[in-house]
Parts: sequence; structure tokens; C-alpha cells
Amino acid sequence: MANHEEQFKKLVSHAKEYGFIFPSSEIYDGLAAVYDYAQYGAELKKNIRDYWWKSMVQMHENIVGIDSGIFMHPTIWKASGHVDAFNDPMIDNKDSKKRYRADVLIEDYCAKLEAKIEKEVEKAARKYGEAFNKEEFVNTNGRVLEYANRIKEISRRMNHDLETNDLADLKKLIEELEIVCPISGSRNWTDIRQFNLMFSTKVGSVSEEANTIYLRPETAQGIFVNFLNVQKTGRMKIPFGIAQTGKAFRNEIVARQFIFRMREFEQMEMQFFCAPGTEMEWFEYWKKERMDWHLSLGMPAGNYRFHDHEKLAHYANAATDIEFNFMFGFKELEGIHSRTDYDLSRHQEFSGKKLQYFDTERNESYVPYVVETSIGLDRMCLAVMSNAYTEEKLEDGSERVVMKIPAKIAPYKVAVLPLVKKDGMPEKAREILHCLQPLFMCQYEEKDTIGRRYRRQDAIGTPFCITVDTDTLSGDTVTVRERDTMAQERISIKEIASYIAEKLK
Ligand code: GAP
Repeated sequence: MANHEEQFKKLVSHAKEYGFIFPSSEIYDGLAAVYDYAQYGAELKKNIRDYWWKSMVQMHENIVGIDSGIFMHPTIWKASGHVDAFNDPMIDNKDSKKRYRADVLIEDYCAKLEAKIEKEVEKAARKYGEAFNKEEFVNTNGRVLEYANRIKEISRRMNHDLETNDLADLKKLIEELEIVCPISGSRNWTDIRQFNLMFSTKVGSVSEEANTIYLRPETAQGIFVNFLNVQKTGRMKIPFGIAQTGKAFRNEIVARQFIFRMREFEQMEMQFFCAPGTEMEWFEYWKKERMDWHLSLGMPAGNYRFHDHEKLAHYANAATDIEFNFMFGFKELEGIHSRTDYDLSRHQEFSGKKLQYFDTERNESYVPYVVETSIGLDRMCLAVMSNAYTEEKLEDGSERVVMKIPAKIAPYKVAVLPLVKKDGMPEKAREILHCLQPLFMCQYEEKDTIGRRYRRQDAIGTPFCITVDTDTLSGDTVTVRERDTMAQERISIKEIASYIAEKLK
């Protein structure tokens, strides 16, 4: 665990040092839980967004994309349930004056038990070597079973308390587990209260007339309220989907773990409208599609798992999370929810406008059912960066940090490097650069030794370095160095573009 924490700290400082992600407003000492994407982070984020959009919108003839406003009519949030129920249970420590989410304190306690299980597994794996069967071990080892049962029992009670809003029992649970404040180390807790996560502001030019409105806490409602507009103008037939990406805002009580939980973040959501009774089929379809999307990036399959929800929100009839093994353990990366006709029915009720679809095959009108896929773009950036960050000891004894970002979403695809800054090499390198620039994000670097320049490109995850040397000047060939293997190949200048395009496919 300590090792993972150490790695995570290194990733955060690498992200800053190499221009991926900066703390917001840093010269004013920062703003908690808000981050700015720097030159490489912004490219990475854009590439992930484009990759999602391409797979969800471009590759599906029955899905279209929209871009709705961040501000919306305040009644929307009443209808969606956010005004009354988008709450987190908060608890304060009276000594440190720090505020926590009660459920997060309990989850952290369970994470410590999970770490103990992991330790037992590692110990046994070392002891039994190749003969070790992990599945059998976790299902039979007494200590592991004890930890697992405790986690199960604590989670069951916590979920029950959250569902029934039994905040007194939730506090009792914290007391029984003897959870202490990480800052003060004391157990001097306040009662638990509900805290609404929406940010509000005022619109209107005269303050007395100004209306309270909210910054959207999810992009989904912008899709629901445009459902009929899109269906009619796009002549869409059910089943069909509407996708959108954009900022969402939540006043998270505990915003932490870098860009995992932020107060301003970006979502990529798709609502799939289908006929009542077909939603479970589509739920299974989207579960598979979304997992396939993740796996298509080539990150290890073992880093992903489904977490099916046992307890469902009152409007859902099925829900699962795709969890990713971040440096701090498996956590939610994406949610897939079968939301029934809840949202459209509520908007129909609150707006007084019919939000129905006439199904010519069934010869009836109905409020469509919805299956939602919802992924946090920042969380996806973190997943990619956590998986990519690698420290390597090389054969010559030197070390390198390399960001093994999947090539198709890497911030820059190619670096063009003259071996030395003389003999016409920079001029030739710039010629090549200008040919490649319309096709790929490229960098040009001529300062420092070639070895140092390779290291810098490794650190920002550039998959290909093209080096111009004396042979280039005499024979029109260059070397291509591949980031992960560091293997070098000699190819002719006119082959460079197709060579890289082929590798990025
Ligand atoms: N429309 C459904 C919805 O918003 P959610 O589970 O609250 O569901 C969906 O959020 C996804 O948005 C999450 O799986 C996560 O990736 C991302 N997300 C949620 N809150 C976040 C936050 N505070 N910071 C970063 N990402 C967040």
C-alpha cells in the first residue's frame, strides 16, 4: 500500500513537472479540487474525448451528439431529484475542524481491510510459488475470509443506513469501528448531516429579480430535456442514443486523489432510448460495448472489473460500474445504468409537456426507457496516466521514466530530432516535420544530447522519435525509435507517414 501511495505521489509530481496537469490558480496557492490541464494533459484529454466520440457517435448510425448549456431551467433539477436528494452525508471532526463524507470514512476503513487481504495473498504467493492458486486461497484461508466477511457486513450496514437515511446509525457505525480523523487522530465527531452537492448562482441583471440557478451536476439532464427535439429534427427511430461531453460541477465534500474526484470535471455520457421491456437487453449490450471500448485501448484486462449494484436507486432496474485498478485500488471509472422511464416521466410531469414517442411497429405511444453510459473524462485520464507511468532500469544501468500511453491517444505522436545541430540536419529535420505536421501532433527538438531528448519524449509518452543523421543527408533514410521497446529501425523518408499511421491504427 505504502508503495502504491509512493507511486501515486510520483505520478502527481510527474504530471506537473512534465506539463500534463497543474493545480489550479497555483500562484495564489491553489484552489482545492480544481486542476488545469497543461499542454500535454490537454492533448491527452482531447484524444480520449475524440476516441469516445468516434466510437459512440461516428461508429453508431443510431447515435447523435449534442452540446447543451451548462445553465438550465432550475425546475429541471427539481424534476431530476437533484434539489431534494443529491446529497452526501457529511461529518465534522471537532478537533481538526475538518469535514468528511461519512461513507468515505467507512469505505477507507474497508480499503484497509482489503489491503490486509492483498498482503495475505502476496505472502502466500511467495510461499507457494508456481503452485499458488489465488482463487482457492481467497475462498478457503481463514484470515482472508474473516476480513472479507467484515467488509461485507460493514458495507451492508452502511448501504442500509444510506438508503433509509439512518444517519444516527451511520454515526454509530463510525464510532463502533473506532475510525479516527486522519488529521487530529481523535474520535470527536459531530452528528452526520446531509449536504447538497449542487453549486448555485444567480441569473438576472437586477439582484432582487435574480433567480437561483444551478451549475449542472451531470450532463445527462441536458440530453433528457432535448429528447423530443432531437428525435423529431433527427427523425430518429427507437432505439437510438444521444451523446454529449462537457463540464459538470459538484461541491464534493472530500475532493481528493488528484483528478479522481474534482469539483469541476468533465463527463462523457450517452442516453440510449429504447422500448419498454427491451431495456435489460440493451443494458447487457452497453455493458459489453463499454468494456470492449476500454479494452480496445490495449491496457491490461486485469485492470478492469464490473461491480454490479445490489442496491439500486429507486429509478433504476439495473446498474453496474466499470471499476479500474487505480494506484489506490479498484474504483469506479464508469457507470452503466438502466434508468427506466424515470427521467422523461418526471420532466413530462414537471414541464407539463408530453415527452412520448409514437412507435409505428407497436402502434402505440410511450415514454421511452433509457440505458445510460456515463464516464468521467478526468478519471479516464487518470486511469491512462496511472497505467502508463513506468520506471525502468536500463541495461546500461541508467534509469528512465516512460509514460506508456496507448499510442492512439498519446499527446504527441512523433518527435523529429536532428542528431546534431549542424551539417544541415536541422534543416532536413524541419522539412520532415512540416510534412508530418498536417497528419500528426509533432514536436521538434534540437537542444541537448539525443539521449536526453529521447528521455524527455519518453516522459511525455511520445510513441515515435524520428532521428535525422548523416545517413539521412546522403541516403534519405531516418531512424524511427519506438518508445516502449526503444528498438530502432531505419526507414526511408517517404515511408514515415504510412509507417506511423499503420502503427496508430
Ligand atoms: N448521469 C449519471 C452520473 O452522473 P455518476 O456516477 O454520478 O453518474 C458518472 O457520475 C461518472 O462521472 C463517474 O463514473 C465518474 O467517472 C465521473 N465523476 C463523478 N463525480 C466526479 C468527480 N467529482 N470528479 C471527477 N469525476 C467524477
